Amino acid sequence: MKKHPTLTVDQATLIAAARDASARAYAPYSKFHVGAALAFADGSVVTGANVENASYGLALCAETVAVSKAMADGVRGGLMAVAVIGGAPGEDGAASPGAAPVTPCGRCRQVLNEIAQLGGTDPVVWSLGADSVVELRLSQLLPHAFGPANLS
Ligand code: THU
Repeated sequence: MKKHPTLTVDQATLIAAARDASARAYAPYSKFHVGAALAFADGSVVTGANVENASYGLALCAETVAVSKAMADGVRGGLMAVAVIGGAPGEDGAASPGAAPVTPCGRCRQVLNEIAQLGGTDPVVWSLGADSVVELRLSQLLPHAFGPANLS
């Protein structure tokens, strides 16, 4: 039976996956751990953490790592939701978010847009703060996006 493209992972589960991923950040330079979790229409979840480099400018953001993992596994589209958490690592290594929720950086918004547009979805993005969750659609974070459709 064809699966209906609705979100099959709840917010708390996706946030927990992002938090777990943040504990695996490689961020010895910024000491700022970020975890991202992507939920797809088939129920799968793909996570990423930021990966820094001794050549500082080469740092990879958590969201970009997660999208790259999914794309390299052949996933094209179906992106329904994204959770992002960032902050200094707590005792377990996971990000301990500050008051201001971490929304995806500009480059990551564009990277997320690519996989979203491939499946024609506008994923909800949950950004974690210490006491709040900001909920925005990717189209709100990146209005008038340039994407694959512009090249066809
Ligand atoms: N970072 C992310 O992983 N995602 C974002 O959306 C913002 C920034 C990372 C990059 C760098 O390793 C650290 O956070 C500090 O900028």
